[in-house]
Amino acid sequence: MEQYIVRGGNPLIGEVDIYGAKNAALALIPAAILTDEPVIIDNLPDVSDINVMLDAIAHIGATVQRINRHKVKIIGATVSSHAIDDDYIRKIRASYYLLGSLLGRYREAEVAMPGGCVIGARPIDQHIKGFEALGAKVDLDGGQVKAKAQELIGNHIYFDVVSVGATINVLLAAVLAEGNTIIENPAKEPHVVDLASMLNSMGARIRGAGTDVIRIKGVSKLHGTEYTVIPDQIEAGTFMFAAAVTGGDVTVNNVIPKHLESITSKLKDIGCRVEEYDEAVRVIADKRLKSTRVKTMPYPGFPTDMQPQIGVALALAEGTSTITENIFENRFKYVAELVRMGAKIKVESNTAIITGVEKLKGAKVSAPDLRAGAALVLAALSADGVSQVDGLQYIKRGYENFSGKLRKLGADIKKVNIDENSSAARIV
Ligand code: UD1
Repeated sequence: MEQYIVRGGNPLIGEVDIYGAKNAALALIPAAILTDEPVIIDNLPDVSDINVMLDAIAHIGATVQRINRHKVKIIGATVSSHAIDDDYIRKIRASYYLLGSLLGRYREAEVAMPGGCVIGARPIDQHIKGFEALGAKVDLDGGQVKAKAQELIGNHIYFDVVSVGATINVLLAAVLAEGNTIIENPAKEPHVVDLASMLNSMGARIRGAGTDVIRIKGVSKLHGTEYTVIPDQIEAGTFMFAAAVTGGDVTVNNVIPKHLESITSKLKDIGCRVEEYDEAVRVIADKRLKSTRVKTMPYPGFPTDMQPQIGVALALAEGTSTITENIFENRFKYVAELVRMGAKIKVESNTAIITGVEKLKGAKVSAPDLRAGAALVLAALSADGVSQVDGLQYIKRGYENFSGKLRKLGADIKKVNIDENSSAARIV
C-alpha cells in the first residue's frame, strides 16, 4: 500500500505548471468516438481516471494510440461493441459519458451504473430525462443502464438541477440528433464549454455553452480534429491553497485566471495576496489567514471540488468560519481526519462550523476521496511534525505527480510503499 510521509512546516515557494483538466478530458475522450476520423487530444493529464476512460473506449474497439504521455490519437471507426459491462470501468463515474456518445453515434448504448468518489447519492435521473427527451428508451437492468433509440430527434430540455454530467451527456447525444435541441438550466463549468469547443471543431453546431441556454443544431456527421484540453481549474486551485496554508508564495502557471475567479476571491477574503497574469496566478500568504463564509455552488460559484482544500485553510484561520456544502451531501468525511490533526470543526447538516487553530499537528490520516485526499496532504504540509497520509489511490485519480510537484516547491513529502505484513516502508 502506498502512503505519503509528510513533514510539515515548509512554506511552499516557487512555480508550478498545471496539467490539462481531468474533468474536461473525461468528456473529450468519449466525444472522440462520435466520428470515424482520427481525433488527437493533447494536454491530457496522466491520471488514473483518464487512463481508465482510454481503456474503456479501447475495450469497445476504438483504436487508442499514445503519441506521448499527454497526447493521444483516437480512431472511433474501429468501435465494434456498444456495451461496457466491465467492473473496472464502473470505478470511474464519468464512464456514463459513453452512454451519451454511443447513443449519439450508434443509437444504442449499455454501460454499468457509474461509481466514482463516494461523496453523495449522485442520481442520474437528469441524464435519463435528457436521453428520453431525444427519443431514447432507457432501462436500468441489473446494474446496467441501457439506452436505445430508433432515431434521435432534437428537443427542448429543461434540467431540474444543474448537473455537469447530464449537460455533457445530452450534448454528446444531441450533436448527431436530427433537428434542434435546446438545453435550459445547463451547467456552465469550463469543461462543458471545452467539450462544446471540441465538438464544434469536429463540425458540430453548438452555441451558448457557458450560458443559461445551450442551442444545438444536429448535424449528420462529425469529422476528425486536433484539440488541446484546458488547464485544470481544481489542480490549480489546490496549489493556490497549498500556498495559503503553508504561508508560501507560489506562482501557478498554465492556467486561465478567469476560471479561478471564485477561488481567487476567497483567497483574498482570507487575507492572501493574489496577482493575476495572462496565464498564471501568484498567491502570497504572508500573514495569518482570516475566517470567512463559503457556500459551494455550480460554476461560477465556489466549486464543491475545492471545498475540502478551503476547509483546511479555514481550520487554520483566525476566528470562526462556516462552509455550506450545497452540491454533495457526503463531502465532509475529511473533517474527522482534520480533527485528529487538532482542527476544531463541527458539522451540522450541510454546514461545517470551523474555529481556527494556530497550528495543526501531524497525524496518521486516510484520504476518504479524491479532493479530500489532496486537502489532507495540504493539512499535513501545514502541520507541526510528521503525518502519514493513506488512500493515495484516490489522489492519483486526479493529480499527476502530486508529490513531485509539491517537492519542487520545497515540501518535505515522500511516497513510500508499506508492506502491510511488516512495518518496513520502502521509499519510491
Ligand atoms: C461533476 C464533476 C465533479 C464535481 C461535480 C460538481 C466530472 C467527471 N465530475 O460531477 O468533480 O464535483 O461535477 O461540480 O466532471 N444530480 C441529480 N440528478 C442527476 C445528476 C445530478 O440530482 O441526474 C445532482 C447531484 O446529486 C448533485 C448535483 O446534481 O447534487 C450536481 O451533480 P453533477 O453536476 O451531475 O456532478 P457530476 O457530473 O457527477
